[in-house]
Amino acid sequence: MRLFFALWPDAGTRAALAEAAAAVDVRDGRRTRPENLHLTLRFLGEVDAARVPSLLARAPPPALPGFTLTLDDAGWWRASRVAWIAPLAAPAALCGLARGLDEALAGLGFAADPRPFRPHVTVARNLRRAPRVSSPFSVSWRVCDLALVSSVTDPAGPRYEVLGTRPLAD
Ligand code: 2AM
Repeated sequence: MRLFFALWPDAGTRAALAEAAAAVDVRDGRRTRPENLHLTLRFLGEVDAARVPSLLARAPPPALPGFTLTLDDAGWWRASRVAWIAPLAAPAALCGLARGLDEALAGLGFAADPRPFRPHVTVARNLRRAPRVSSPFSVSWRVCDLALVSSVTDPAGPRYEVLGTRPLAD
């Protein structure tokens, strides 16, 4: 299975993310379907399905607090042709969560991701031109848990399934 850990929005946050994503005026490429909007904490790649229970039990760092994430920036990466929305300043709690996850995953035999953690929600792919942001936005996302998600590539695009979630502390 192709797996990743992510912040997975609840219905209200998803609607707010979809609205912010719509403010990013993409002139080509393919928009992310609203039901697919998420923030990846760590991509794992192909993993044996038998490892899912131990990943859920042992990878999420214990006793880290929930936090509020404000997404108020938009942009694109020319090299990967991805348009995104993101926090202008990533909260320390989010970076701590990603770091804790990386450390636990290293203990489970997953080699560290050599790329720096750049938190973002992908709103469109395969762009050849920079998007324009039609109106400012600010999405407030209360993060209470993290999710282990599988990704299946259908002809119509990626489809994601949340395999399980683990709560953060109150
Ligand atoms: P992206 O949105 O920036 O493309 C599921 O595919 C999630 O994992 C997506 O959020 C995607 O990030 C991320 N992802 C996919 N392939 C990846 C890779 N090879 N390395 C890091 N992240 C990846």
